[in-house]
Amino acid sequence: MGGARLRGEVTVTGAKNSVLKLMAAALLAPGRTVLTDVPHILDVEIMAELLRRLGCDVSHDSGGATVAIDVPERLEHRADYDLVRRMRASITVLGPLLARCGVVDVALPGGDNIGSRGLDMHIAGLQRLGASVTSEHGYLIAHAEAGLRGASIWLDFPSVGATETLLMAASLAQGRTVIDNAAREPEIVDICSMLTEMGADISGAGSSTLEINGVEVLRPVEHATVPDRIVAGTWAVAAVMTRGDITVRGARPEHLDIALDKLVTAGAQVTMVEDGFRVTMDARPTAVDIVTLPYPGFPTDLQPQFIALNAIAEGAALVTENLFEARFRFVHELVRLGADVQTEGHHALVRGRTTLSGAPVEATDIRAGAGLVLAGLVAEGETTVHEVHHIDRGYAGFVEDLKRLGADVRRTGAPT
Ligand code: EPU
Repeated sequence: MGGARLRGEVTVTGAKNSVLKLMAAALLAPGRTVLTDVPHILDVEIMAELLRRLGCDVSHDSGGATVAIDVPERLEHRADYDLVRRMRASITVLGPLLARCGVVDVALPGGDNIGSRGLDMHIAGLQRLGASVTSEHGYLIAHAEAGLRGASIWLDFPSVGATETLLMAASLAQGRTVIDNAAREPEIVDICSMLTEMGADISGAGSSTLEINGVEVLRPVEHATVPDRIVAGTWAVAAVMTRGDITVRGARPEHLDIALDKLVTAGAQVTMVEDGFRVTMDARPTAVDIVTLPYPGFPTDLQPQFIALNAIAEGAALVTENLFEARFRFVHELVRLGADVQTEGHHALVRGRTTLSGAPVEATDIRAGAGLVLAGLVAEGETTVHEVHHIDRGYAGFVEDLKRLGADVRRTGAPT
């Protein structure tokens, strides 16, 4: 039910888009890796299942925030379609398995709801490291029985996934690898920190050039996951849209510079608190243009939430999506709530309305789902968001947190 002004505190845990890669990185070192600040989300369960099939023993404490992964000396090297289909991030095991086993077969993820999302840069980079890569019967098969060799690699685009695959593969390669035009996301810095703790020799984390001097073995470690900047950003937008007052704890505002700055432009007050930030808003927001770009640009994973904000803002905004071509698919759902949004290629023109009206809508991916829930919080009457399993993939305890902040929301049907 729309209408409540959200007030109070929420605490964010570790980032989905980091922890999945940290779990894959554990494969690089036989023995027990322990990850803390792990979010209790569906994708972590799927990654745990994949690691078990590869021969690992994965256990977590009762709250799920600490995950222990026991990695055997000999690993299986196949990631089956049934898991890769459920979670594209399964592809992250490609680099570590190739480095550890000298061979890997990973099902091709295919297209998904937010665009084609190719693997060409992962493949070209592994080939530069000396692997032979083929695709057969829907599987990507890579061989490097004689080991990987360091090389100079230039990425066409600072792909998060390709940077991670190559970082992990190069950590156990012979000699020096340089990755140019590398991704700079905080999640890349996080995996670089963990690999370094494991004994890898990496410099340049957080810059566009990464240099990795391969080592023979890595050791298991205990590592805390970086906080989820996208979940934190979603709460910030919720405060602005509902004219509320939310303190987000456990967050790193420096990872959200542009997004928080946009909220200030929209009229919000953002203040830093000891372990996070506070967002307050007492008027109708002003529309803000956004352009998604690789970090430190505006994150594509906050684009749907900002379209929802612009849908109720004063004025009009142009939103440009540069990463995933199909990320505007959810706009059709937002329009069902009365939003005025026109899309043309990778641009969306959003003209703010004074009200939205509640309706049944369907989540098409995680962030679209979050954006639709935010819209439902301000729409008149009742909004039902279907296919919320998408939201479960990335937001732990979303409904409980919303309730604690004063939202009139309930979940119907059990979590998947
Ligand atoms: N791309 C290629 N070829 C490649 C690799 C990427 O063409 O070899 C293209 C993709 O098709 C896409 C663009 O490059 O258009 C960006 O892809 P990138 O590799 O940077 O993204 P990703 O690793 O697939 C991660 C997150 C996404 C997040 C993006 C960008 C995970 C599991 N996923 O995806 O998160 O949007 O980086 O920051 O880390 C989400 O959480 O909702 C989500 C989609």
